[in-house]
Amino acid sequence: MAQATYLTQSFSGDKKTTLTMRTDRWWLEPFLTGAGFLAFVIYTTWAMFQAEYYWAGSYLSPLYSPLLFVDPSASGAPPVAHAWFGYWPKWWPNFIPSSPAILILAGPLSFRLTCYYYRKFYYRAYFATPSACAVSALAQKDYKGETHLLLFQNLHRYTLYIAIFYIVILTYDTLVSCFRDGRLGVGVGTLVMAVNVILLSGYTFGCHALRHLVGGRMDCFSCASGQEHWGHKTWKKVTWLNERHMPWAWVSMIWVGFTDFYIRMVSMGIWQDFNTWGN
Ligand code: FES
Repeated sequence: MAQATYLTQSFSGDKKTTLTMRTDRWWLEPFLTGAGFLAFVIYTTWAMFQAEYYWAGSYLSPLYSPLLFVDPSASGAPPVAHAWFGYWPKWWPNFIPSSPAILILAGPLSFRLTCYYYRKFYYRAYFATPSACAVSALAQKDYKGETHLLLFQNLHRYTLYIAIFYIVILTYDTLVSCFRDGRLGVGVGTLVMAVNVILLSGYTFGCHALRHLVGGRMDCFSCASGQEHWGHKTWKKVTWLNERHMPWAWVSMIWVGFTDFYIRMVSMGIWQDFNTWGN
């Protein structure tokens, strides 16, 4: 009741307001999630502009896949035969690194940034409107985020298809990584890439938009006539993943970065990849 009174005062513009009456460490979660995501953004931005060492033997970094063009003169770049459209285009401006990652990162980024869970944590961590439950917002009175400025977030249901496409591509990359010089084999890098696909699938197939889709886009199952609606069974399966969406989101994101890092280290000759090819 005390908190309810406080919030009423806060939003009515009462001068005696304080940030919150909570005594626990409510700031810890927004701090950790904000710092963790910032670290990921810094790493992937660096890796994207680096444009080198994203290929090792038969391993392709997920940050560079699908590989549309390739500049074979770059250190640690794959052979041209692996690029969908061949050599790096001549019209590319000189002042931008010839990095295949620049061409494709908008796809997965658009999916992550519009994800319902990501929105929750980055609104809290970066915009503080509010930072946590029962904590005063920095800007609340005229907040129109979801009805004006942030309407593009509704595109999430469409970016879902992009994310599924990337999972197909990364699965293909993992299969391709099992062949080196025409020989079938497996290495630690193959396993790292396979785990990456599994974790990304766990995150993507637990998406709220996907759950709504497979449930037959129904808003009320109990309103459906007859037996249990066919989509309800699939909906319940997706719900298992959806209830764990937050850990899937974090672990899959960290593993994408680690997969790139692992391949980069092997490509630079800093780490040894144990594999059945003996190289
Ligand atoms: S809600 Fe998170 S991926 Fe769709």
